[in-house]
Amino acid sequence: MKMKWTLILLLGSSLAVTTLGWTYNVSLEIMNWTEARQYCQTHYTDMVVIQSQEENDYLVSLLPNRSGSPYYWIGITKNHKNETWTWVGNNSTWFGNDSWAENEPNNNHSTEFCVEIYVNSGKNRGKWNDEKCSQRKFSVCYKAQCNATSCDRGICRETIENITCHCEPGFKGDRCQTAVECPHLPKPDNGDFSCSGGNQTFKSTCQLKCHLGFLLIGSPAVTCGANGLWSGPRPICTSYKQALLAVAGCGAFSALCCICFCWMKHRKRKKLTQVRQPEEVTCPSSEVHG
Ligand SMILES: *[C@@H]1O[C@H](CO)[C@@H](O)[C@H](O)[C@H]1NC(C)=O
Ligand SMILES: *[C@@H]1O[C@H](CO)[C@@H](O)[C@H](O)[C@H]1NC(C)=O
Ligand SMILES: *[C@@H]1O[C@H](CO)[C@@H](O)[C@H](O)[C@H]1NC(C)=O
Ligand SMILES: *[C@@H]1O[C@H](CO)[C@@H](O)[C@H](O)[C@H]1NC(C)=O
Ligand SMILES: *[C@@H]1O[C@H](CO)[C@@H](O)[C@H](O)[C@H]1NC(C)=O
Ligand SMILES: *[C@@H]1O[C@H](CO)[C@@H](O)[C@H](O)[C@H]1NC(C)=O
Ligand SMILES: *[C@@H]1O[C@H](CO)[C@@H](O)[C@H](O)[C@H]1NC(C)=O
Ligand SMILES: *[C@@H]1O[C@H](CO)[C@@H](O)[C@H](O)[C@H]1NC(C)=O
Repeated sequence: MKMKWTLILLLGSSLAVTTLGWTYNVSLEIMNWTEARQYCQTHYTDMVVIQSQEENDYLVSLLPNRSGSPYYWIGITKNHKNETWTWVGNNSTWFGNDSWAENEPNNNHSTEFCVEIYVNSGKNRGKWNDEKCSQRKFSVCYKAQCNATSCDRGICRETIENITCHCEPGFKGDRCQTAVECPHLPKPDNGDFSCSGGNQTFKSTCQLKCHLGFLLIGSPAVTCGANGLWSGPRPICTSYKQALLAVAGCGAFSALCCICFCWMKHRKRKKLTQVRQPEEVTCPSSEVHG
């Protein structure tokens, strides 16, 4: 019975702060850096990754204070003297201007390729120090909350106290579960829309069929885009009489435009030939009317 309890205690951890984003955990036992990483990968996601001063401060505020060594291993390391420090959790190489303690990293023993974080009451609280990886310290781990099912149609990103789905185009909602909707197409006069999937959301195509005896104006089908807008102007059904009137009206208008344009061109040419005879260009519309 006693053995069982010891086992549970050893496997458990002294800290398991649940926030919306990552969960941080600390080992109860001290161990060398290699063992520390193994511990994190076995029980959680990996050794803690720190990506900003804000995250550093937050982590320090969660970790139990210690009055002296051993402190806590964090997940940044290198294999050789001339390599850059790298976070094992995601290959990032971030460190801030104030991350290292004064005169650190000093590689005192010429093989200090692992990093501890001081969590004490002194002035180096929250600062980092390079250490020999064989030293035994507490291990700080994190558990990611994002998983394969966190976001339906997007990428899951987490920060301190926040987990957010970044949606692919055409989707929205806190889990990107909702397809973007285009402005509802009202029931058209003299025809019917039929939409794929029976809805008017992203990728739906709506086709207009006019009733017998009516003419379709515009492109017969519109598709709902990722931006929530239809691919083109809404087609309409119109009677042949109206269509003819419209065409006639359009023709008259373009004829007018053409006459106006040609007339102006003509005037301009005239003006160019009659050098030094300023002339006012007036709107010819009234003249054309007559
Ligand atoms: C980090 O990079 C190494 C090789 O450059 C790769 O094998 C490993 O999968 C990467 N790890 C992550 C978490 O991206
Ligand atoms: C590394 O991982 C942290 C979360 O652990 C994330 O905030 C950060 O953006 C990542 N950085 C890179 C370069 O992948
Ligand atoms: C270097 O390590 C030795 C112990 O091996 C220690 O006495 C000394 O204070 C360390 N120097 C620095 C600058 O940390
Ligand atoms: C740890 O030490 C800091 C700095 O002295 C102090 O502000 C904080 O309250 C302490 N935390 C605990 C849990 O004692
Ligand atoms: C860590 O400890 C393990 C087991 O005790 C040992 O095999 C390994 O060599 C140690 N690693 C370092 C870097 O000291
Ligand atoms: C996946 O993550 C979500 C939060 O994003 C959580 O609600 C859900 O329980 C997790 N699913 C699994 C299988 O861990
Ligand atoms: C989480 O992050 C997203 C994007 O960075 C932001 O819009 C949202 O307000 C944040 N939520 C909380 C609860 O902080
Ligand atoms: C909307 O239509 C699409 C196909 O275009 C379909 O996959 C989806 O399930 C439909 N959504 C609803 C709420 O009916």
